[in-house]
Amino acid sequence: MPTERDAETSYLGQFIPLQYHHSMLMDANRMQNFKAAIDHVVFPGAKVLELGGGTGVLSCFAAAKADKVWCVELNPELVAESRKLLALNQNGKKVEVVHADAFDYLPPEPVDVMICEMIHVAMLREKQVEMIESFKRRYLQRFGGPLPILVPTAVLMAVQPLQQDYDFHGYYAPIIQVQELSGNRPGTFELASPALYSTLDFMQPNQLEIAWEGMFTINQNGKVNALRFITKNILAIVMEQSSTIDWMNRYMTVPLAMPVCVQSGDALRVRFHYRAGGLLSSLRDTMDAQVVHRAEIIPINNKAYVHRQHLPQRYSSEMTNASL
Ligand SMILES: C[S@@+](CC[C@H](N)C(=O)[O-])C[C@H]1O[C@@H](n2cnc3c(N)ncnc32)[C@H](O)[C@@H]1O
Repeated sequence: MPTERDAETSYLGQFIPLQYHHSMLMDANRMQNFKAAIDHVVFPGAKVLELGGGTGVLSCFAAAKADKVWCVELNPELVAESRKLLALNQNGKKVEVVHADAFDYLPPEPVDVMICEMIHVAMLREKQVEMIESFKRRYLQRFGGPLPILVPTAVLMAVQPLQQDYDFHGYYAPIIQVQELSGNRPGTFELASPALYSTLDFMQPNQLEIAWEGMFTINQNGKVNALRFITKNILAIVMEQSSTIDWMNRYMTVPLAMPVCVQSGDALRVRFHYRAGGLLSSLRDTMDAQVVHRAEIIPINNKAYVHRQHLPQRYSSEMTNASL
């Protein structure tokens, strides 16, 4: 088993110190939605596997109905802690904590539900996507189909151009930020609506490489100096109500190396690419934003003003022809 130092370096983002688990337990948005999703998909008598069990909390939620839960954890400190905590909880005895690397481990028999919360905004740092792909491949080889129900079942990711204030008491520091979903965010201006850039359905094969290029229409004047990344995890599908149980990660705001001044009506092209599970800096270093058609204000009759776009030749001649 790796030491703490090895774990930090060789398992990028996988080593989460014990005190951070307290923050995860305190995160009501995360906890309530996982509890509801697990309660929805786990049925009496079910067999459940959790990859990356941490304190054992999600396994314990599953054990409320399941007959047996295998809870796999790599960090020896968390293995000891979860065994201690599970012993304090009703149903905890139905959970077997397995000290193993979840990239290698398979349960001794097929399971009905597999839970994996190795989730970071934009699927960066933690190995959620790679872990689920590895699990599906090995599980199907060992047991054949069908796959168990996966919690989460899918993830939707979106991006939004921002003007972000990076002045900290007179110290200018354009730095990656995590923002709460609700409440006041002074210093943050949304310059366009968010655009979806990736949908991962975990029941289907997924690539680790994520690359996107898309256009935004700017809705107010300003300077685009950051991109906000929005991640919505679909934890479970509630067929009977045609709804889903979701968990939205906090927003992550990443500064752009080359900020760009924009006016309302401008078209902004944004590009980036990264590998799921990679460093936050791998996303930051590829981010690019450019105004491709700058809006222009043209005086009409010395009074009224209209916005006109500098359109590529093909479109401007089409428009001219159409208006004739
Ligand atoms: C974000 S935490 C979630 C913990 C817990 N499931 C919860 O919801 O509170 C992810 C956990 O996965 C564990 N982990 C990361 N990589 C792992 C691996 N390869 N094998 C087993 N556990 C791993 C980490 O040590 C950490 O406890």
